[in-house]
Amino acid sequence: MEKKRAQWSSKLGFILAAAGSAVGLGNIWKFPGRAYEGGGGSFLLIYLFIVVLLGIPLMLTELALGRASQTNIVNTFKKLGYKQHSWVGWIGVIGAFIITCYYSHVGGWVLRYVFSYAFEAPAIYRDSLGYFYNMLGLHADGTTSIPWTALFFAALFMLLNAVVIIRGVEGGIEKFNKFGMPALFLLLIILLIRSVTLPGAEAGVKYMLSLDLGKVTVNTFFSALGQAFYSLSIGMAILVTYGSYLSKSEDMIKNTAVVCGMDTLVAVLAGFIIVPAVFATLGSGEVGKGGGFAFVSLAGVFAEMPGGRIFGVLFYLLLLFAALTSSISLIESIVAFLTEEFGWTRKRTTIILCLILFLIGCLYTCSQAAIPLKGIWYDGVNGITHPALCDFMEYLTDRIMIPLCALGCCIFVGWVWKPESIIAEVEQSGFRFRLAKAYTVLIRFVAPAAILAILILSIFSGVTLS
Ligand code: TRP
Repeated sequence: MEKKRAQWSSKLGFILAAAGSAVGLGNIWKFPGRAYEGGGGSFLLIYLFIVVLLGIPLMLTELALGRASQTNIVNTFKKLGYKQHSWVGWIGVIGAFIITCYYSHVGGWVLRYVFSYAFEAPAIYRDSLGYFYNMLGLHADGTTSIPWTALFFAALFMLLNAVVIIRGVEGGIEKFNKFGMPALFLLLIILLIRSVTLPGAEAGVKYMLSLDLGKVTVNTFFSALGQAFYSLSIGMAILVTYGSYLSKSEDMIKNTAVVCGMDTLVAVLAGFIIVPAVFATLGSGEVGKGGGFAFVSLAGVFAEMPGGRIFGVLFYLLLLFAALTSSISLIESIVAFLTEEFGWTRKRTTIILCLILFLIGCLYTCSQAAIPLKGIWYDGVNGITHPALCDFMEYLTDRIMIPLCALGCCIFVGWVWKPESIIAEVEQSGFRFRLAKAYTVLIRFVAPAAILAILILSIFSGVTLS
């Protein structure tokens, strides 16, 4: 007899888990920098427009694919009768695998920084770049060593993931998100209040509300488009897995809109935390993005701020929750695939998988500094430009695999399985899909054209997806 498939125990459980997947490092350390670059308020408007026009329909598509097929990403296509399209799912799992290798290590560094701000804040303030490099095994005198601290905390981060995932969908993932997501919102609110009440913060708030159309270029659109995809966790087919645990009696459109809304809210709040705080402490022109910014430049912000140490700890806790809930969803989608396809037990699969992901990730962490690679440098604004291996992994996933997988989903749903099937899935249990016509046009024409444009641009130009 087939075992009953796991399911979210409540609507809230699903919403928080899906939002947990979407809300990640991207929201907090990339969005503010991009919003700053794109002119503040004008970027926010463009971003909102893209989330509504493309984000919601695409997330709905992935969730509905999962709920219709009731299985993991790879098997979805076969189950729906189109085995030849399984490549889309394969890109998804492999992409999730590669992302998790580095995402979990970066999560470990974030965990390290929670302790760093608690116990060693003066050392970070004295030399934030030196402190960061030291953690990665590159020391002030030019010598290198194995970055034991970074590796230890990455292992701890992975252990946290494994503990939650082993407990299963309802008992582990749902429970963790029910605690983690409210905690994340609470931290956001505390940090927001701190930031906007800093002397000199108004200039930053004003900037984030200004509509400076002079700063809007074609690149702003693509930057917003790529950011929206990455932030909503679209194009990795990960949400297929979470959708497959969703009860047939749920209103999918409402749920999707709420999840997209939460993700966007977190990103915008992070923008209103970081940009005003940077304006108030470092002055304008210093808002960067990515790890270098979060680990290095932000130290200046906390050093200048009254109570900076406590707010530093809270900020890295915020990043930690964001990273954990996302990495859990990434790993779960691989675990779902392995347990269902090979009949392995959840516990054994999770342990082995986490171990492998951790070990490959060690190469990533070591390649940052301990194994001296040429091309490590600090540009003063955006932080460290990642060297070889890390560059390659991120390039492959963010610029090629995510758009390719998203494109595959659109083409499959738009032209092969047909939008009507998604509409029928959504309309189960008596719900009406009011914008079904608009959805059909979007998924067939608008979304593939937009994704194709990102794909071409990101391969051939400097525009990055994430
Ligand atoms: N959305 C996550 C973030 O904002 C990162 C991410 C991208 C992701 N694709 C994903 C997370 C797929 C989980 C699943 O950081």
